Amino acid sequence: MENKGCVLAVDDQPINVKLLSVQLQSAGFTVLMAYGGQEALDMAVAHMPDLILLDIMMPYMDGYETCRRLKANPLTAGIPVIFISALTDVAEKVNAFKCGGVDYICKPFQKEEVISRVGTHLNLYFLQRSLKEKVEEETAKRRSGEQMLIQQSKMAAMGEMLGMIAHQWKQPLNAISATAQDIEDAFIHNELDIEYLHSSVITITNQTDFMLRTADDFRNFLRPSKEKILFNVKDAVEEVIFMFSPYFAKSGIGLNLGFTGEEFSVTGYPNEFKQVILNLISNSKDAILSRKDKGTANKIDITVRKDDRIAITIRDTGGGIPEDIIGRIFDPYFTTKTPDKGTGIGLYMSKTIIEANMGWRLSVSNIEGGVEFRIDT
Ligand SMILES: Nc1ncnc2c1ncn2[C@@H]1O[C@H](COP(=O)(O)OP(=O)(O)OP(=O)(O)O)[C@@H](O)[C@H]1O
Ligand SMILES: [Mg+2]
Repeated sequence: MENKGCVLAVDDQPINVKLLSVQLQSAGFTVLMAYGGQEALDMAVAHMPDLILLDIMMPYMDGYETCRRLKANPLTAGIPVIFISALTDVAEKVNAFKCGGVDYICKPFQKEEVISRVGTHLNLYFLQRSLKEKVEEETAKRRSGEQMLIQQSKMAAMGEMLGMIAHQWKQPLNAISATAQDIEDAFIHNELDIEYLHSSVITITNQTDFMLRTADDFRNFLRPSKEKILFNVKDAVEEVIFMFSPYFAKSGIGLNLGFTGEEFSVTGYPNEFKQVILNLISNSKDAILSRKDKGTANKIDITVRKDDRIAITIRDTGGGIPEDIIGRIFDPYFTTKTPDKGTGIGLYMSKTIIEANMGWRLSVSNIEGGVEFRIDT
């Protein structure tokens, strides 16, 4: 016969335990037996039964106390307890439920009643357990999925950064290499004196200082903010524009900032906010560069407006987003780009940062000749 679950029967009268055991076994349950409260506690921990049938009136430790201790131990707290007792008083029954019992059977008990109540509560317990496992499994799955997304978006940002650092460093590296060449030429032509050498060293140190500064800027940019702080939105946007406009200019794209109002303080995560702005302007850059019609001006206008609250808009001239896909652009992995150009998580991460982490709003709409993304704080 299939095993329908393991029941621990507890009663100080061996004859009662025996009777319960025979009846339950005949119905397909596995039965363990205990003859007192302490023994029941020990067996529950050692064998982890699926259900406990518990007598109330027992010497040394009664059923109520036994049940309370079962519920106080995290190991056994989840095991359903059905009281079984000759006490028929309503107060006794209420007390049984108060101690954590799920049901109450009166003695003398009917075989059918015991079997069907035990069966019902076991089913409930198994269902509850499998639900709990499912939830835990799903939660773990989601957590690792999110971790992966965050990791990928970091990698994407880092790729973008590397491109920019390489670009920022080209100029000073050229200058350093030219200076080295100069020193050699000066030596060959007998022009190398201490002054010449000194001015060359100054040129090189200036260039390397600049390179160190850019490296630091980018490192700070990628560092996650630890907690929400008060920061100035306009300054944050300006910082992004300052850092990235040389790189965008290389592609012939102008970054413009306009603002109205004053006092642009908000509470949030400044670094993550800057990364969102970078995601948005990088998308605009991609759209502008892949636009078929090359006649229009290549520019991205960013505005920071303070009315009741602060709103940031980013408008581009990239030709807009087709209406049939505009509803999906915030979905994870939605992209219209080739795998080397995009993974489709930029906007998903941006939406998560702005809406879930900061409680603001990120929305999109097509405008004349391009797209407008809007952040409402
Ligand atoms: N400014 C824009 N103009 C036109 N289309 C856009 C614009 N911004 C986003 N899109 C569309 O939305 C899609 C999703 O953007 P998202 O930033 O999430 O991913 P991606 O840029 O493709 O890749 P990733 O940002 O992960 O490198 C893009 O592939 C593009 O089709
Ligand atoms: Mg993107």
